[in-house]
Amino acid sequence: MKYAIAAAFAALLAMPAALADEFTKKDMERWQKDFDDAAKLGRALWVNDAPIKLGTNGVACAQCHPNAANTHPETYPKFQKQIGRVAALWEMVNWCIRNPLEGKNLSADSKEMIALQAYIASERKGVKLAPGKH
Ligand code: HEC
Repeated sequence: MKYAIAAAFAALLAMPAALADEFTKKDMERWQKDFDDAAKLGRALWVNDAPIKLGTNGVACAQCHPNAANTHPETYPKFQKQIGRVAALWEMVNWCIRNPLEGKNLSADSKEMIALQAYIASERKGVKLAPGKH
């Protein structure tokens, strides 16, 4: 059994690289739809229009960041004063959930945190990556 797995893995490694990138149209459409659904949920959370509320005081992300303005996802990871070290975007999302919204941290791999990041990133599509920039 062990050898069979090793052999299968070796065969996989031997495949031409391009082969691994051939997706079916159906796959691509499904993945795009899943991304669009995530960004849509992210937007609903952003404007406080989702079944789940991020905060406890009725404040919405959109009040200070309309259309995800001033979130600068392209600059992450970067040093953030509020956190005191180089931080990832989701950590600042949680910082704003805890502070202006008086809510509780979302886990990094929660559906909602991923949705918020999908929304932020889709609003900044095409912006050049500038990690660490202030
Ligand atoms: C009351 C206003 C206010 C609200 C509401 C608010 N934020 Fe912020 N947000 C700020 C401020 C102030 C900063 C800090 C700016 C800095 O120092 O970079 C910030 C920073 C951020 C950053 C990092 C921006 C950067 O330039 O690196 C992200 C991401 C972010 N907020 C996401 C959110 C999300 C998600 C929500 C809703 C859960 C939210 N914010 C709600 C005021 C707000």
